[in-house]
Amino acid sequence: MWPSARLRLVDERVARDRDSLRFVLAGKNAADRFGCAAAVRTYARRVGLSAKRSEELAIVASELASNVIRHAESGALELRYAAEPRPHVLMVCRDRGPGIADPDAARKDGYSRGRVLPPDALRYEGLGRGLGAVERLVDELQIESVVGVGTTIVLKKWIP
Ligand SMILES: Nc1ncnc2c1ncn2[C@@H]1O[C@H](COP(=O)(O)OP(=O)(O)O)[C@@H](O)[C@H]1O
Ligand SMILES: [Mg+2]
Repeated sequence: MWPSARLRLVDERVARDRDSLRFVLAGKNAADRFGCAAAVRTYARRVGLSAKRSEELAIVASELASNVIRHAESGALELRYAAEPRPHVLMVCRDRGPGIADPDAARKDGYSRGRVLPPDALRYEGLGRGLGAVERLVDELQIESVVGVGTTIVLKKWIP
């Protein structure tokens, strides 16, 4: 989305400059969601989100990272500060993978891996509530997906 050449690599997954952050999700390590959340939390505080809204954005990053790790092949999550139409953090999570056949269904609570789960489901494969939480914690959300190619999720969180 924006040139990453100017970003400085700060560890093998994280690159950043003054205005943007890029976290690479290249493997199947479920714990990467926590590193991603931590990088996003720090970034969000730096660009002026409150502690509470920074934590919300960290949870969002953790859910999106977990989806890339568990449901796709590889991807990257990028954030940058944008001033228009009002100051916000823009987050873009892109992956290569199977894509989502029905994105409107996938963002509903209790929908996982192509089916609706019973309300009291206790599944270690996932509860199907990640994208529902993401939707509630951001100010704008778009999910674009091409089956067999991958998924791009774009969201905004207003500052302050
Ligand atoms: N990046 C992705 N690539 C492919 N499928 C995805 C991706 N993100 C979400 N999905 C699909 O949408 C469903 C709902 O996602 P989510 O609400 O996070 O629930 P969960 O991950 O617990 O199943 C997933 O079960 C999966 O089928
Ligand atoms: Mg999930």
